[in-house]
Amino acid sequence: MANVILDKSKRGWWKSAVFYELYPKSFQDTTGSGVGDLRGILSRLDYLETLGIDAIWLCPICASPQVDNGYDISDFCAIDPMFGTMADMEELIAESGKRGIGILIDLTLNHTSNQHVWFREALKSRDNPYHDYYVWRDGTPDVPPNDMRATFGGSAWTYVPELGQWYFHQFAVEQPDLNWENPMLRRELYDVIRFWVSKGVAGFRLDVIDQIAKDPDRKITANGPRLHEYFRELSREALLEEGLVTVGEAWGADTQRARLYSAPDGSELSMVFQFEHIGLDQQPGKDKWDLAPLSLPKLKDCFRRWQQELYGTGWNSLFFNNHDLPRIVSRWGEDGKYRVESAKMLATMLHGMQGTPYIYQGEELGMTNIRLPLEQYQDLEIHNLFRERSAQGYDPQDVMESIWARGRDNARTPMQWTSGPNAGFTTGTPWLPVNENYRQINAEAALADPNSIFYYYQKLIALRKRVPEFRDGSFTLLCPEDEQVFAYTRDTDGGHMLVVCNFSGTEAAFEIPEAFRNAEVLITNYESEAEILRPYEAKILHYKKI
Ligand code: NOJ
Repeated sequence: MANVILDKSKRGWWKSAVFYELYPKSFQDTTGSGVGDLRGILSRLDYLETLGIDAIWLCPICASPQVDNGYDISDFCAIDPMFGTMADMEELIAESGKRGIGILIDLTLNHTSNQHVWFREALKSRDNPYHDYYVWRDGTPDVPPNDMRATFGGSAWTYVPELGQWYFHQFAVEQPDLNWENPMLRRELYDVIRFWVSKGVAGFRLDVIDQIAKDPDRKITANGPRLHEYFRELSREALLEEGLVTVGEAWGADTQRARLYSAPDGSELSMVFQFEHIGLDQQPGKDKWDLAPLSLPKLKDCFRRWQQELYGTGWNSLFFNNHDLPRIVSRWGEDGKYRVESAKMLATMLHGMQGTPYIYQGEELGMTNIRLPLEQYQDLEIHNLFRERSAQGYDPQDVMESIWARGRDNARTPMQWTSGPNAGFTTGTPWLPVNENYRQINAEAALADPNSIFYYYQKLIALRKRVPEFRDGSFTLLCPEDEQVFAYTRDTDGGHMLVVCNFSGTEAAFEIPEAFRNAEVLITNYESEAEILRPYEAKILHYKKI
């Protein structure tokens, strides 16, 4: 099947596109360092072209002390030597472009590393011009300005005795928040964007971008009062280039806000990357470590709302996995007997919707969660959690269960390329252990098996470009209360599509609506037809209006 190459100079090209999130540290090592690098990505571009994706969201490759795996940037316009050089990056952009693949740079415009020259200058004195690039409050060492907590644990404030001031950080101590109220700072950030545009990138993934307009005195982090003003300015000043895509990570978005962020006139961002469906399995009022049972009717209602409320008025991202989330096949699917069927089913449910689908590396192979002893984890969030919860008297075994279920390193284990040593990821010692199941689950095996998850994704990607209902169809949820089946239709004036997914490991009943009885089966994860839906069965039916 030939790939359809989208014209990336056309506004809105990304509405027909499928994106691939790539975590460079874990993708492919070419030096034996145990850490992936840019030349490794170059060596795997043919694989990505075969899959058929249109763009890569490249997780941070800028210079960084790597306290938070690159989300602590010390120079926005330099490549971290661990990954290679700017020449490698230019080659990657050019070579991807030849294959019809655009590159999205991941920028953290909410904060920098504490090693960034701006912060080092800011520490010198209150009068230093860079001091106001960050968020400070006067005070004494024993009383922080308020009780706000940082996402990775501890207070959101750190005291600097030499200045007699506290600085604000929503994440790690080493990630001071930038002060967007300062117009000089904003101009510098727009220059960073222009720098990358001049390198030929297709767009940007903007890290926690709904948190830039914080107001710590009122304990506001997401959706601060000046947020839309900043988005519009950013779009006007730095993103005038037609066709550039901006993906805004927005944990705090609801559908109303998302409509503004991703308004079709392009005045703010191209699309939101929001997480409401991800938070459904945590206990209300608690955090992600406190799991609640899964409820399919809740999941369906959540997707229904987003599909219907953004229809014609905004644009959403479609994802289940990313570098911060556990592998979905180990959560909503089944990573044992029905791993292949359930991975395909989850892909069907998601790719059938309106929005831009994101495949996170290894998802196309059905990669699973991992269970490691605490000392083998690398993520600072995991270690902070263990320390904090142990101090609060939690049973260590319970804390480990949470880490195994929700820890971010589940997603970050090295890409499984072959059944050879270290799954073909490195000739050295991988920075994070390879999942033991690589002998069965790897790209080489997937490419050799016409029924693999890989080829299923390839087909879904091609369908999105061929069948207009994927992009344009309105959404109607069927059987909202059914505990096993997720079914919906997508309708345009020209055609109709029905997506049916069995979310359970047992058979389920579902009556195909009359209108679809003779429809074409666009894709299915079972070879033969049956009256009943088999475990994790999924299919998409389609007919054109005559
Ligand atoms: C969201 C990123 O996805 C995550 O990996 C990072 O730790 C935080 N933002 C802080 O930058």
